[in-house]
Formats: sequence, C-alpha cells, structure tokens
Amino acid sequence: MEKIGDSLCRYKDHVFITDILKVEHIDSLQSFEIRDSDVFLVTYPKSGTIWMQNIILLICESDSTDETQFLNNPEKMPWLEYPSEHSDYSSQASPRFFVSHLTPALMPPGLKDKKAKIVYVARNPKDVAVSFFHFSHVLTKVGTPKHFEEFLQQYLAGDVYGSLWFDHIREWHTHRDEYNILFLTYEDMIMDLRSAVEKTSRFLGRDLDEAAISRVVEKATFKNMRKDPKANYEFLPTEILQGKFMRKGTVGDWKNTFTVAQNEMFDRIYQEKMKDLPLKFIWDIN
Ligand code: A3P
Repeated sequence: MEKIGDSLCRYKDHVFITDILKVEHIDSLQSFEIRDSDVFLVTYPKSGTIWMQNIILLICESDSTDETQFLNNPEKMPWLEYPSEHSDYSSQASPRFFVSHLTPALMPPGLKDKKAKIVYVARNPKDVAVSFFHFSHVLTKVGTPKHFEEFLQQYLAGDVYGSLWFDHIREWHTHRDEYNILFLTYEDMIMDLRSAVEKTSRFLGRDLDEAAISRVVEKATFKNMRKDPKANYEFLPTEILQGKFMRKGTVGDWKNTFTVAQNEMFDRIYQEKMKDLPLKFIWDIN
C-alpha cells in the first residue's frame, strides 16, 4: 500500500481514503455474490454520483407509499468499497443497490454475467477537476490542496481519491461490452433530465408512466434535491462534511477557474490520452 499525502493511499492501483479503507473488504469483493437483480451505480468522483443515486432510488421506490422506510440514500444504496458494521449484504432483500467509484478490476467478477445492471455516469474532466478541488475543502479526508494549480497537478498524476480520471473512463468504456451497462453523462442529465430519467427507468426495467417520470424529474432538479435531506448528504456529521456536496450543478464552470495556460496543457493531455476512445464530452452549454 502506497501512501499519498496525509489522507490517501493507493491499493491495487486505486486511490482510497486511508481512514476508511479495509483491504480485506476490497479483496473480498472478488468473491462477492452478485444477484441478477442487483443494481450498481459507478462513477468517477464528482461526476454526478449523488444525483444519479437519487434518481435510481426515486425510480425504484416510486411505487412505494412509505416515504420513511430508509433514512437517507446511502443507507439504501451503500458504498460497495466502504462497508459499515451493519452491512451484511448477503441477507439483504432484493433488489440490492450499490454505489462505487471502483474500476472493473476491483469489482465483483460476477458482474460479468451481464445480468446485474450497472449505470455509469461520466462528466467532462475539466468540470470534474473544479468540482473536486472545491470538494477537497468540504470533505478534507480527500486531501487539502492549497490552490487549484497544486490540485490540478495531483489530478493529472492520478494522485487523488478515485485515481486518474483518464484511467477510470478508459477502463469502463473499453470493458463495457462485458457488462450490462448504461452509459450516461452528467451533461446529458443537465441538458435533458427527463430523457435521462426515462432512459434510466427503461434500463432498470421499471416502466414508469408519464406522471411518475415527472415526479422523479421534479425531485431530482438541483433546486429541489438541494433541499432534500435524504438525498443531499447534509446528514453527514460536520466533522466530515464542512460544506455542501451540491455546489453549482452546471456545465462549463471550469472556465471560471482554469487559466489559459492550464487549459492549453489540459487539452494537450486530453487529446493524447483520449485519441483512441470514441467519446465526446460537452464542455459548455452556453
Ligand atoms: P459541482 O461541484 O460542479 O456543483 P458527486 O455526487 O459525484 O460528488 O458530484 C457532485 C457534483 O454533482 C457537484 O457538482 C454537484 O453540485 C452536482 N450535482 C448534485 N446533484 C445535482 C443535481 N440535482 N443537479 C445538477 N447537479 C448536481
């Protein structure tokens, strides 16, 4: 295990938060028994994880009348890589939901049977970098860079929580045919939330009617989700979270932070690293 800064470490090519990493648990995922009905959400950090987590749960719980059946979204959809003492997943009722930032190599191999579902959300890596930089002052366990330039260097070296963005997207995209996977982008969700909710609902095999889709969309807007204590992660204790997960929720905010030189350098690296991947990101919507 390689230490990275004060709070992170690399294990099996992936960067974790040292305090909450349990290597035996990560190893045990190799024999984790997958059920056909399992639903996984996978993202690189700051790509819209808690947004899609909320959407999936709103879709799957839309026929439920008991709004209080779980306290907050991660209780219903826990982090695969960070177990709590209550997480005996084998006795849990189906369907089970999990969220993860892991790459394919660390995921349960049973997912390759193509029955369990994976929703993968990607976001343009410049907005990810800016969101991540701000987040490192909110969740100090992911590091505390003094300024954006310092963070950008760490981000481009993969020395950040979740490792290198380019590796994450490449691994999941090139292995996508081995899984039952729905690929979406944060930018798609911003531009047409309804259509993203419809696609997700179809993929999950939930045929929601128009009114139910509208209810999910309404609850998942930035404005409404920000006020939703089940979904916005403000339930985390203030020693852990010193600010908001939900910050701006836009596309193109990187322009307010990147200098011209940083942008040119980033573009050069992006072109080199992504030249053989058929992926197009939206960098701005204005
Ligand atoms: P910004 O920091 O750019 O605002 P993650 O959940 O992966 O940590 O991603 C957090 C990012 O998703 C933050 O981006 C946050 O504001 C954005 N986000 C969360 N919920 C959202 C919503 N309902 N609509 C738009 N953006 C949302």
